[in-house]
Amino acid sequence: MMNSPQPGKMLNSPQWWLLLLSILLFALTVNSSHDLTRNENKVKSSVFLSPEFVLGPGTVANKYYYNIDFPRGHIALKEFNAEVVDEAGIPVPLHETYLHHWIVVRYYVPKDAKTSKILSDDELHQSKGFIVRNSGVCQGNSLGQYFGLGSETRKTATYVPDPYGIEVGNPAQVPDGYEERWLLNVHAIDTRNVEDRLGCTECRCDLYNVTEDELGRPLRPDYTGGLYCCYDQTKCRVREGFDDIHRSLYLRYTVKWIDWENAIVPVKIYIFDGTDSVEREKDSTILDAKHHCRIEYEVESCSTTGVVNGGCIDSKKASIVIPRGGHVIYGVAHQHSGGTGAALYGEDGRVLCSSIPIYGEGKEAGNEAGYIVGMSACYPHPGSVQVSSGETLTLESNYSSTQKHTGVMGLFYILVADPPPESMLLLQNSVHESMRFSKYSWGLLAIGAVVAFIVGVGYYSRNKREEQYQSLVI
Ligand SMILES: *[C@@H]1O[C@H](CO)[C@@H](O)[C@H](O)[C@H]1NC(C)=O
Ligand SMILES: *[C@@H]1O[C@H](CO)[C@@H](O)[C@H](O)[C@H]1NC(C)=O
Repeated sequence: MMNSPQPGKMLNSPQWWLLLLSILLFALTVNSSHDLTRNENKVKSSVFLSPEFVLGPGTVANKYYYNIDFPRGHIALKEFNAEVVDEAGIPVPLHETYLHHWIVVRYYVPKDAKTSKILSDDELHQSKGFIVRNSGVCQGNSLGQYFGLGSETRKTATYVPDPYGIEVGNPAQVPDGYEERWLLNVHAIDTRNVEDRLGCTECRCDLYNVTEDELGRPLRPDYTGGLYCCYDQTKCRVREGFDDIHRSLYLRYTVKWIDWENAIVPVKIYIFDGTDSVEREKDSTILDAKHHCRIEYEVESCSTTGVVNGGCIDSKKASIVIPRGGHVIYGVAHQHSGGTGAALYGEDGRVLCSSIPIYGEGKEAGNEAGYIVGMSACYPHPGSVQVSSGETLTLESNYSSTQKHTGVMGLFYILVADPPPESMLLLQNSVHESMRFSKYSWGLLAIGAVVAFIVGVGYYSRNKREEQYQSLVI
């Protein structure tokens, strides 16, 4: 009678072990090359609280906090998230405190500047400090920030994928005698018990009873809503008969970063504005042109304009020349309630990134019905989306115009990396190959194990046959 091969014995076969070992080694090699290209383990993370701001029903805080807590040193920023919390650290929903925006600005001041004294732009200038703007083309004080979002902050991805990072704190870039600091601007509106929630979040001037701007200058008669009507300390109309309960709030922000190393590829930040209009002097090149970024605009109701294209959609477009090209590695738009999506196109009409709002559907923080609680972000495969230096891009921002909206925005934030030199490109591609490979390495290991098992069984039984039935070899 023939002895059936026993699986337990098979493990003693040296050939089996050799196969298993080589498969394991293969999987390990693939995995370790994977680890070398990812920075997950090096990412540091800190959670900070802004100074407190106090809001009562209808009131507005538009605060500038100079010299906020921020990671120091020569680092690559990887992610920045923020949200409004109360004194107990509990997230506050948008229908209570509407987060109009928060922005984080990088600036340099002389090392001996008394930071506590700096409370305004003027004081920053007086101390010989200055803002380090992003690479975008808007001028003056607008849109110079490194980070910034609004109501969408809880569900908008902001991470910068490997091997990229936003380089800051490089001592070689900070002017002699200066140091780098960070400024936070938080604009929040308390809409508890207000008469018209949407109107208050859209800063409608009549609801705020405002006819002059913060500096006392009269507003244009046709200016019906926007930031000039909801500055710090203004108050939106509230319903009678409710308690005027003030409370302390904070912006809680989480910064992720890694210590700088040469393998990190720095990215440039561009913020484009749908209201950007260019004023070009005679003989000046398009790159010297002055950009007027108004940041906010109005959407007229289609019942008054009579324009019903594609079902009451207001589509705003701006053409903007990007000074320097490269690989687009991230993109996201910023819109307000009523927004239906924004896109950035290349000169030939190709889509560089399309970013769509996520509307909440419930009551809890992060899912507030009717509010934009997130914007979809673009993470193109590196190298697959490129822009050239001097290319004219088109920003398109769409809003529903079934009703009028004031103070809306259509911004686009992209990160662009210099294209790597040819040799690096090859390396990068092979790195990507190996990264892709490693995703499947467990699958490969499983397939390998099955193959090894079959081969092993075959080997074993053949050996057995060779031992016992040599004459039967076919
Ligand atoms: C609106 O402002 C005007 C003057 O600026 C003031 O006289 C009036 O009382 C205000 N109305 C309300 C409802 O606060
Ligand atoms: C904006 O609206 C126009 C007109 O309806 C449409 O053709 C376009 O695709 C829209 N773009 C985005 C980004 O939603």
